[in-house]
Amino acid sequence: MRYPSASSASRALYERATHFLPGGNTRTTVYMKPYPLYVARGAGSRIWDVDGDERIDCINNFTAQIHGHAHPAINEAVRRQLELGTCFGLPTESEIDLAELLCARVRSVQAVRFTNSGTEAVMTAIKAARAFTGRPAVAKVEGAYHGSYDYAEVSLDPGPAQWGTVDPASIPYAQGTPEAVLHDVLVLPFNNPEAARRLILAQGDRLAAILVDPMPNRAGLVPATAEYIQALRLAADEIGAVLVFDEVITFRLGYGGAQSLWGVNADLTTFGKIIGGGFPVGAVGGRADIMAVFDPSGGKPVLPHGGTFSANPVSMRAGLAALQLLDHAAFSRLAAMGDRLRAGINAAFAQHGVAGQAVGAGSLLKVHFTTRAVVDYRSALPAPAEARALATFMLGLLNRGVFAASYGLMALSTPMSDVDIDHVIGAASDAIGDVARSC
Ligand SMILES: Cc1ncc(COP(=O)(O)O)c(C=O)c1O
Repeated sequence: MRYPSASSASRALYERATHFLPGGNTRTTVYMKPYPLYVARGAGSRIWDVDGDERIDCINNFTAQIHGHAHPAINEAVRRQLELGTCFGLPTESEIDLAELLCARVRSVQAVRFTNSGTEAVMTAIKAARAFTGRPAVAKVEGAYHGSYDYAEVSLDPGPAQWGTVDPASIPYAQGTPEAVLHDVLVLPFNNPEAARRLILAQGDRLAAILVDPMPNRAGLVPATAEYIQALRLAADEIGAVLVFDEVITFRLGYGGAQSLWGVNADLTTFGKIIGGGFPVGAVGGRADIMAVFDPSGGKPVLPHGGTFSANPVSMRAGLAALQLLDHAAFSRLAAMGDRLRAGINAAFAQHGVAGQAVGAGSLLKVHFTTRAVVDYRSALPAPAEARALATFMLGLLNRGVFAASYGLMALSTPMSDVDIDHVIGAASDAIGDVARSC
């Protein structure tokens, strides 16, 4: 197992891909230099690349595969549906089953609308908030990722030169973002309740929605403080805006989602990833009066919404099987594994005398090569030396049989064993040793 390697079958596939896909890539998030590993198969906590090298999968398709790969119960549910047909121009019972489960588990969710991705779910939630309030603007957190809807990706990766004052500016992520989009996005600092409240109240009745991920991965994967979430809840109520919790990732933190852990009720919640059991999915759920914007029973709805593959029964059945496997005991076990891994990595930083920390909660963790307090996007942004240390660390993991996201994210899965966690801690410790030697 050696990455990169001149004779790798992955390298050959990548070379072929460059002839047909821009930069050989069709998903920016999986791009790796000098070439990505191509996967041959996955089973449980493991993946095998096309060279036959086996690794513990700590990305799990960017947090979606909470049961790892090829789980027998999910495969069986999908197999049964395949025999019955994969999608129709009519509804199936499966969408009722999954919607019922989400309403039962998440206190603030009274009705559900399915989409095909988290991006679509966030877009649909923002449009629902606009339709409900009759207002144009949306507030989002600096550095937080919510998929690729124009409005949701504003100020995803501003550099220090663009930060300006304490109040974040509305910075385009993609070139060509219309001025009108920037004008209608208010960017909030994370974990700063006073500033967020001041900025929200200043927008007042222009704001349709306040969009927040309570533990934003790209903004450092540190949990929002209870005061911050409470400030957003109160400010939303004060100006009559819709509070949208993006739980596309954080729904894997607990049985009732992150909002049950933070003790707050969102008005709308977006879901994705784990609720599809490994198949494409997204959903918006929330207050019945807001969700009524989708209701076609009285004629043209306030917000028409379709989608050829929305609520397709393969995704619905796979998602239902995945969520049924996630009982309270499963969440406790995932959280215990996460705690042990974070503690093990933090002990390794201390042992090797390398500045660093593992943050996160439950089954999600992220490694930062700094000991400064990481509280928001700006404090999480790695300095050049920290980025180099992270790259050395990630390569060290990869060559010791552990696959994690290039920016330090790990997401655990239920088939992982204690032995797997020991292996990841050992590999992380050795990789931190690589960093110590490279300094
Ligand atoms: C918090 C959050 N919201 C939305 C999305 C978009 O989901 P999808 O990739 O399914 O479009 C993501 C994807 O990683 C996410 O992390």
